[in-house]
Amino acid sequence: MSIMQKFSLSGCCSIVTGAAMGLGKAMAEALADAGSDIVIADIDREKAQEAAAEIRGKGVRASFVPCDVTRPEDAENLAQAVMAEYGRIDVLVNNAGICIHTPAEDMRLEDWRKVMGVNLDGVFLLSQAIGRVMIRQNRGSIINIASMSGIIANTPQPQSGYNASKAGVIMLTKSLASEWARYNIRVNAIAPGYMKTELTRPYFEGNGTMVQRWMDLSPMGRPGTPDELGGIAVYLASDASSFTTGGVFVIDGGYTVW
Ligand SMILES: NC(=O)c1ccc[n+]([C@@H]2O[C@H](COP(=O)([O-])OP(=O)(O)OC[C@H]3O[C@@H](n4cnc5c(N)ncnc54)[C@H](O)[C@@H]3O)[C@@H](O)[C@H]2O)c1
Repeated sequence: MSIMQKFSLSGCCSIVTGAAMGLGKAMAEALADAGSDIVIADIDREKAQEAAAEIRGKGVRASFVPCDVTRPEDAENLAQAVMAEYGRIDVLVNNAGICIHTPAEDMRLEDWRKVMGVNLDGVFLLSQAIGRVMIRQNRGSIINIASMSGIIANTPQPQSGYNASKAGVIMLTKSLASEWARYNIRVNAIAPGYMKTELTRPYFEGNGTMVQRWMDLSPMGRPGTPDELGGIAVYLASDASSFTTGGVFVIDGGYTVW
């Protein structure tokens, strides 16, 4: 098989959480371009349905299943719904995530738990529900969207909960990779740097000095665009990465080299 054939996702079914917009939508589009059917699992019904319709325009099947990743029953329902409709799950991208900026000394426990609930519990719950299907199939690729914030503490904004949650995602990735290699399931993490999406738009639009500091600290001096995660997503989803598991792929314009 040629290397370009190994990148093909033709006939595959991929679930992407939080793919109604932002990085999740861009990765779903990239997986669809490589031939995969797409299931969007999100809490934003309207935007998710629009995104699914756009992706169907690429000539693959695409649908939306309502799913709050913090709810175990939603994760179970997602697994059942996708198996009923597609009969297989090849790829799970755990992308849904939130961030709250609060100094640690002022952070309310409920806000800490909110961040952990989506960013870390969500990755665990979805990996468990879909992982059980993949174990039965003896095949699968799980891609967790961590962040460079799981490796470095961002500055100047205080976001200890977010950073801790993403460090947790990285360790969970390695743990699942170690447990599930025997089932032919590969588990990897992508750690993006600053990317322009809905999550970061308020900062890019509203606070020039903070964004200027981010860019000053970044060798490439610019934020990433969502489509710039497409290459790594297709690589990790496909057989092109057949010997890759437990890896953390930093895509940050060089931010973490300084
Ligand atoms: N944008 C960045 O600079 C950046 C950098 C590093 C990592 N990340 C990570 O990438 C991922 C996507 O970020 P983004 O910038 O595209 O965010 P975004 O806010 O643009 O999109 C997040 C998506 O997740 C969905 N979502 C939120 N809570 C959910 C829940 N409980 N269940 C299901 N879906 C839920 C939202 O509806 C939305 O569609 C996140 O995990 C984020 O932490 C982003």
